[in-house]
Amino acid sequence: MPLLEINDLIVLYGEIEALRGVSISVDEGQVVTLLGANGAGKSTTLRAISGLAKPAAGEIVFDGKSIAGLGPEAIVRLGISHVPEGRRIFPGLSVKENIMLGASNRRVAKSELSREADAMFDLFPDIRSFSNALGWTLSGGQLQMVAVARGLMAKPRLLLLDEPSLGLAPVIVQAVFRIISEIRRNTTVLLVEQNARMGLSVADHGYVLETGRIVLGGKPDELWGNEAIRAAYLGGHAKVSA
Ligand SMILES: Nc1ncnc2c1ncn2[C@@H]1O[C@H](COP(=O)(O)OP(=O)(O)O)[C@@H](O)[C@H]1O
Ligand SMILES: [Mg+2]
Repeated sequence: MPLLEINDLIVLYGEIEALRGVSISVDEGQVVTLLGANGAGKSTTLRAISGLAKPAAGEIVFDGKSIAGLGPEAIVRLGISHVPEGRRIFPGLSVKENIMLGASNRRVAKSELSREADAMFDLFPDIRSFSNALGWTLSGGQLQMVAVARGLMAKPRLLLLDEPSLGLAPVIVQAVFRIISEIRRNTTVLLVEQNARMGLSVADHGYVLETGRIVLGGKPDELWGNEAIRAAYLGGHAKVSA
């Protein structure tokens, strides 16, 4: 049984059919990457899973339980953590305070949370020295790391990552993807990316979304193996480095 299974999901924004019957499945321990152009419905898929967008139809089953229509708090409590686009962090709080906020779904003493937040810097050494710095002083790459660290503080079974590489310099993108490779050791990840090469390099399975529909799914080398598919959907000819 997959950890997450979505069947024929439809999400509407008023008249706009953002998702027109999306079906995907994510096995425990995998990284699954959702690719697609701007406006394809990638973020809406993540928002539906985490309860921020209400499905008009279709199933979302997490760990054998139907979660479609549940509110965001209930879904976080079940073990799904969503790191949205845009690295929204609190500019007036310190890095460590921002990270600790990610555990608001858990009943844990503050001293324990403080210890866990400190330990989080083992995974994010680049922001360790900024622990007490205020959010607004950080660069884009540092903010992205804080956002991912905060998502992990929920101790999720499934981490939803929305375009973690967007707008970052190539060397920072590589650092973020190194972290994703580390995260996958204990957490299942559903990753949304426009950067097909990077997105598939860490994936066990990939899907391509086009205007609200899944048009392709397969192992990364299968997706890259087909020249026509690569040109049409993946926007490049570089070989994926797995
Ligand atoms: N809050 C919203 N209200 C109305 N339309 C939206 C909203 N959010 C997204 N959309 C539309 O839904 C479609 C899918 O958007 P989105 O899921 O954000 O795509 P992606 O993340 O792949 O860029 C697009 O046509 C977008 O314009
Ligand atoms: Mg998006």
